[in-house]
Amino acid sequence: MSNLSAAPDKLPRHVAIIMDGNGRWAKKNKLQIAFGHRSGVETLRGIVRESSDIGIHSLSVFAFSTENWTRPDEEVRALMLLIEEFFNSQIDELHRENVIIRILGDRDNLPDGPRKAAERAELRTCDNSGLHLNIALNYGGRADIIHAAALISCSVQKGDLSLSQITEDLFSDFLSTRGLPDVDLLIRTGGEMRLSNFLLYQSAYAEFVSTNALWPEFTVEDYRNALGQFMSRDRRFGRRDHSGRNSEGEKNA
Ligand code: IPE
Ligand code: IPE
Ligand code: MG
Repeated sequence: MSNLSAAPDKLPRHVAIIMDGNGRWAKKNKLQIAFGHRSGVETLRGIVRESSDIGIHSLSVFAFSTENWTRPDEEVRALMLLIEEFFNSQIDELHRENVIIRILGDRDNLPDGPRKAAERAELRTCDNSGLHLNIALNYGGRADIIHAAALISCSVQKGDLSLSQITEDLFSDFLSTRGLPDVDLLIRTGGEMRLSNFLLYQSAYAEFVSTNALWPEFTVEDYRNALGQFMSRDRRFGRRDHSGRNSEGEKNA
């Protein structure tokens, strides 16, 4: 893999990851699903460290979706316990690494244990200045958008905002990711090609990388490879090819 630090200005500022494939990994290794999720937490630690080292501005990871409540009770309980354990066991180290933790999603409907552990982590790291690590828990992209729309409506109703002030930038400021750049690179492990309701508004122009690696076996090298793919993409944002040349290399009229 090419040296990523050679072109820091080409790195994505905001990377989002749909950490998928824990269940299939557990099955493949004849383990209980909870072990798959546990192994996934190990992968996450490595990717967070690498993101800090490389100098990524924001990393958003999908840990539990609003749809994941429909899984068997035993799996949901194991996941909630793991989330609580993650915050409690990793917080000192994450704090030392200068990481700023933010929880995305509806925290009020999380069980007390993981909610309190997550909120303690947010509070403890809020004055740090390193990587912004957003952990999506009970998160849904549509719910994020609806929540922003409701907050904006309320401000309009109170007279604090006028309709003409509602722009894309203003809308972004009411989303859970307020203050952070849009997602530049969206990585999904486990081979699926869908968003599964993750960061819908924020990913409008994200570059997508899907890898067949299951999340517990996703390596730092795979991550660097995804970043390299991003850096070689031509992001046009709807513009005509900026080189002004067509596919045959001839100058456009
Ligand atoms: C992703 O892994 C983790 C969560 C959704 C919490 P999965 O558990 O969805 O893994 P697969 O897709 O079943 O392999
Ligand atoms: C998306 O994975 C949610 C997380 C990674 C937390 P899912 O496994 O829940 O998504 P689907 O069911 O394949 O769309
Ligand atoms: Mg899955």
